[in-house]
Parts: sequence; structure tokens; C-alpha cells
Amino acid sequence: MGTEPYYGPDFRLLSSEDPEIAGVLLDELDRLRGGIQLIASESFTSPAVLAALGSTLTNKYAEGYPGRRYYAGCEVVDRAERIAVDRAKRLFGADHVNVQPHSGASANLAAYAALLQPGDTVLAMALSHGGHLTHGSRVNFSGRWFDVVAYGVRRDTELIDYDEVRELALRYEPKMIICGATAYPREIDFSAFRGIADEVGAWLMADVAHTVGLMAGKAIPSAVPYADVVTFTTHKALRGPRGGGIMCTAELAAKIDRAVFPFVQGGPLMNAVAAKAVAFGEALRPEFAEYARRVVSNARVLADALAAEGMRPVSGGTDSHLVLVDLRDLGVSGAVAEQRCQAAGITLNRNAIPYDPEPPTVTSGIRVGTPCVTTQGMGPEEMKEVASMTAQVIRDPDAVPETRRRVAELTRAHRIYPSEL
Ligand SMILES: Cc1ncc(COP(=O)(O)O)c(C=O)c1O
Repeated sequence: MGTEPYYGPDFRLLSSEDPEIAGVLLDELDRLRGGIQLIASESFTSPAVLAALGSTLTNKYAEGYPGRRYYAGCEVVDRAERIAVDRAKRLFGADHVNVQPHSGASANLAAYAALLQPGDTVLAMALSHGGHLTHGSRVNFSGRWFDVVAYGVRRDTELIDYDEVRELALRYEPKMIICGATAYPREIDFSAFRGIADEVGAWLMADVAHTVGLMAGKAIPSAVPYADVVTFTTHKALRGPRGGGIMCTAELAAKIDRAVFPFVQGGPLMNAVAAKAVAFGEALRPEFAEYARRVVSNARVLADALAAEGMRPVSGGTDSHLVLVDLRDLGVSGAVAEQRCQAAGITLNRNAIPYDPEPPTVTSGIRVGTPCVTTQGMGPEEMKEVASMTAQVIRDPDAVPETRRRVAELTRAHRIYPSEL
């Protein structure tokens, strides 16, 4: 242990030095506390994660890796990175972990850089069917620099069409196949993807940005035993700081490390690396497995309750933390639903559904997720109330005041970031 007293964030100091930004911080806390957060890609970090993020580790330049940095004075921050890597390896049973990517998108860029040359063919899920921008969108590096062939879900089941994935793989012989998505509620068959990748001699990359927290808590099957490279984020259901990471086989370790630094990034954010270590430590505890299990069971209850309100869950339900909802039976677009919910204090996002007739700015659907509300201690009864409130305000904009009252009642009973902490 170093010398006391510890120096850390002091909100009173910020308020006196910069009241404008202090006001932003307070208003955001009010927004979080006063509403229901259903964005599937968000969660609430623990106070311990926030403490590590707000530490003086943000000052340190540490280009390179522990024990082989390009700057002096890294012996202390090296400990943070080693602890983060060790904990992540234990948590996921991975051969190698790189905890330096600044985000999920940076992790994906590094994974492409490690395994491919510009112009190579990649097979990945279509954005319009639930894939991510970094899986081949033309407005992203992936679609601009690589030749991306897209697979999707079947029209009848709304599940990944593994026969189509195999046919496309045989036809286009991609150098890499990507599985993992941003708006796909069902379990992904990593073993099937592994089989297809082996058949055509492709690398298999699993982008588990959304589901890594559920994998950490063993609430869903892990991609680690199947994929050559697994990219992830730390700020979704894993409840860590905003950031990314990459796991890979021992064979690819050096390639992945060189792709993250020096190819894609410069100095790592050592405060974020320390905060990732804290989050991995929390995820190793039995309480986290219980949390992950409840995230999924809450999502199932939410899906059923929304269905009972006439809001059809795409694919009929969920195996994960998110529900994709088709609103066409209500005659309300995703954009309008998003606005109406926001007016009532329910934060969710509009989302394209597979084969969506509406453009991406409008959409026929919404995406909701349970990581935040589960962290607040909500359970099945509250999920039914959330579904009922959401349906009420989407159907009837005049219900905003009444829904706001119900939201306030629920959030009062499940307050986050209590002031005594
Ligand atoms: C599947 C997937 N990959 C990558 C990302 C990118 O993560 P970030 O926003 O941290 O760059 C996301 C973000 O939602 C995602 O869903």
C-alpha cells in the first residue's frame, strides 16, 4: 500500500472550480435516478469502478505492455494491467487477453488488423438484421476497407440462418467470419460457426460486446472455447468502465497485441484499465453470476409481458438481456415510440427489425434491455409494470403524465447510486 491520505475525486472542488460541468454531472445523475433505463447496451457501474476511473492513473503514459513499456515510471500501473489481465483470463478461461482497447469499435479494428489485409473478404451479420456498424457498414472502416458479405436471419423464424451462413462461406471463401450482434435476442450457436469456419479455412471472430457480461456470469454459453478471437466491451452488462478488450488463442497473442498497440492505439487509458480490473474482480464473485442470471430471467418476463400488450418480440422472445420488439401491430413507428417513452422518463432506443420496411431513422421497432433495471434490484413484478407503462405511453401520448407518475413511483423504490455511498 502507498502513502495515505488518498487523493481522489472531490465533487465540492469541481462545483467551486467549474459549476457549469458540476451541473451537468448532477443533472445526469438526476436523469438516471428519475427515469427507467432500458437501453440494452448500458448498465450502472459500481462505485468502486467509478473510484478507479476517477484516479490519478489517468495521468500516466504507458505505451507498450507490462514490463516492456516505452515510458519510465510504469512499474505501478503495470500492476493494474497485470491484475486486469489475470482476472479476465480466470473469468473467461481465455489463453490471452488484451485489456487496452478504448472501446468495442477499437477492439474490432484491432482484430481485423491482426488477421486481415485490406480488401480481404469477411462474412458477418447484416446491420439491418442485428449486426454492428463494425461488421461491414459502408460508413465504417469495415465496409470501406474490406469486402464484406452479409448473412441474416430467416424471415419465418427470425433466427440466424446457419444454412445460409454455410452457403455464403462456401461461395465467397471469407478469410474471417464474424458472429455476434448488437440487436439479436437469441443464443448464438458458436459451435456451428466454428464448424463452418473450419470447413472453409476462415478465422472465427466472436464479437460479444453485448453479451460478455452474461458469459462472465455463466448465464449463457461462452464463445471463448470456439472462436480464434473474441472482442468485447466492458461497459455493457459487465458493468465496468466504458472500454473494450480482446481475448484470443495463445497462437494469436502477439499479433493481437501488436494490432492494438502500436497499430491502432497509442497510450492505454490506465485509469480505465484499473477500472476494468475492478469490474473483472466483481464479476468473479458469485453475486455477479446471480445478477447475470436475473438479467436474463427479467428479459424473458419483459418479453412475455410486452407480447401480452400486443408488442411482438422478434423471434418470439429472448435468451439474453435484450428484447427486440416489432411495433407494427400498434401502428406506431420506432422513432415515435422512442419519443413518447422519453417524454415519460422511459429511455429506450428505436431499432430496425429484420426485413424492416421503414428506414433506419424511423424503424418499426424498439430494443429494450434489462442490465440497468436488474442492477437496481427490479425483478419479475417490476418487469410486468415496466411493460405495462411502456405499452401505455406508446399507445397513447396523452398518457405521458400518468406514466411519468408510475415511473417516479418505481424509481423511488429502486434508487440507484444512493447518496450515502
Ligand atoms: C456487437 C457490438 N460490437 C461493437 C460495439 C462497439 O462498441 P463501442 O461503442 O464501445 O465502440 C457495439 C456497441 O454497441 C456492439 O453492439
